[in-house]
Amino acid sequence: MIDFHSHILPKIDDGSHSVQESVEMIYRESEQAIKCIVATPHFYASKDSIEPFLERRNNSLQQLQEALQDDECAPRLYIGAEVAYFSGMGKADLLHHLCIEGTSVLLLEMPFCQWDTEILKDVERIVEKQKLTVMLAHIERYVEFQKKREAWNEIFQMPLYSQMNAGCFLNWKKRRMAFRLLKEIPDIVLGSDCHNLSQRPPNLLEGRTVIRQRAGEARLAAVDELGERILQP
Ligand SMILES: [Fe+2]
Repeated sequence: MIDFHSHILPKIDDGSHSVQESVEMIYRESEQAIKCIVATPHFYASKDSIEPFLERRNNSLQQLQEALQDDECAPRLYIGAEVAYFSGMGKADLLHHLCIEGTSVLLLEMPFCQWDTEILKDVERIVEKQKLTVMLAHIERYVEFQKKREAWNEIFQMPLYSQMNAGCFLNWKKRRMAFRLLKEIPDIVLGSDCHNLSQRPPNLLEGRTVIRQRAGEARLAAVDELGERILQP
């Protein structure tokens, strides 16, 4: 079981505030039988540059690894980023630095507005020209902004992966829409998008339990199979 979206690295974004908090989050994931965690700190091109970001991410990872002291029971950490969309990103040459470790998969946070042609073109360029695989972060959070169905349909015609947060399956207001997406969109993986131990804790197991009950073991198995395929070397 893989958590594809987490803010578990210490002191790098609005996620974990300390090494201790990160360690506890990791143990919380471990208790839920999560074997791999993709650490995806926010990257905002408007506020940050790539080199300082990579350096901060490295330092943060190092501190965490030291605290874990090669604990063999801890889930394996993969480094990545949650890259917020920026205009022109289809032509930006920094994206490959931000892909999930060992892959050419980029976790992309789309803008929370109606997607227009320019935005869609950028995504298309990332896929077609840069030859990266886009993984759309928490797709359930964009639905309300896509009043024009064409934009929504167009993006899902591209060969990309979609990530959903476990939390949307646990929220009764969002659950219906979440299960509809899980049914309609084939290449979905899951993430906790955990930020801390209180308001946004690791909750993948809870989400998986609800998915198993409502969508069935086979759908969950397909999610896991895709996840394994993405991370396999
Ligand atoms: Fe996130």
